[in-house]
Amino acid sequence: MKGVILAGGKATRLRPLTWVTNKHLLPVYHKPMIFYALESMQRAGIQEVLITSSVEHLPQFINLLKSGRDFQLKLSYAIQEDAGGIPQAIALGEDFSGQEKILVILGDNIFTHNLSSAVTDFERQAKGAKVFAKHMPTDSKQYGVIELDKHHKVVSIEEKPEHPKSDLAQTGIYMYDARVYDFIRRLKPSARGELEVTDLNNSYLKEGTMTCEVMEGWWIDAGTSYDELLRANNLVAELVKTGNE
Ligand code: G1P
Repeated sequence: MKGVILAGGKATRLRPLTWVTNKHLLPVYHKPMIFYALESMQRAGIQEVLITSSVEHLPQFINLLKSGRDFQLKLSYAIQEDAGGIPQAIALGEDFSGQEKILVILGDNIFTHNLSSAVTDFERQAKGAKVFAKHMPTDSKQYGVIELDKHHKVVSIEEKPEHPKSDLAQTGIYMYDARVYDFIRRLKPSARGELEVTDLNNSYLKEGTMTCEVMEGWWIDAGTSYDELLRANNLVAELVKTGNE
């Protein structure tokens, strides 16, 4: 399986911090934000990772991460010319991943859950996709929301619903088979003019091949607000100071 880390976007929610650089390069305690996604890839056993970002910011990533040798990863880079949503950025991985499955991580997602057993299971699975969910009892409606039945089967996934059907947030961690690019080609832009990852995931759900793993530990989408960025800083600081990083 190959890895794709999405590190594009304008990050308007974090301005003025993001006037000066890309949000995935902002510090989270002692490291640039994107280091956490790279380390998660490495811990999951992934060896080759594609990083996508804008033409303006990609040189900064290359400057920082180079070949990926320091992470024991082989890095490639792809330019995202327009910000057209998460699936549009995933689509840049088509030549890179070929017939292999992919693990996608949004570069602002920081989490402690180890993905390696899910990678092994998904490698064995004939086809389909997997989403990773996290219980967010107080604010699930600012995310995609996943509804599961009592057998842990995915019933619905809704993007930032007014009335969430559960407290399970769809995180920014996804696994797809090689057909993902065909599914993306069939997507239509949403009301906000972008392709939506929730629509992509619903293509697999309709087909009956979408599975879900609920993550342990903590998970933060550090790009959503100054408060979430601060929370990420504090949680990472605690891990470092208790020797658990
Ligand atoms: C995106 C997805 C959303 C998901 C979130 C997780 O939202 O659209 O379903 O819950 O990432 O990080 P965004 O952060 O782009 O608003």
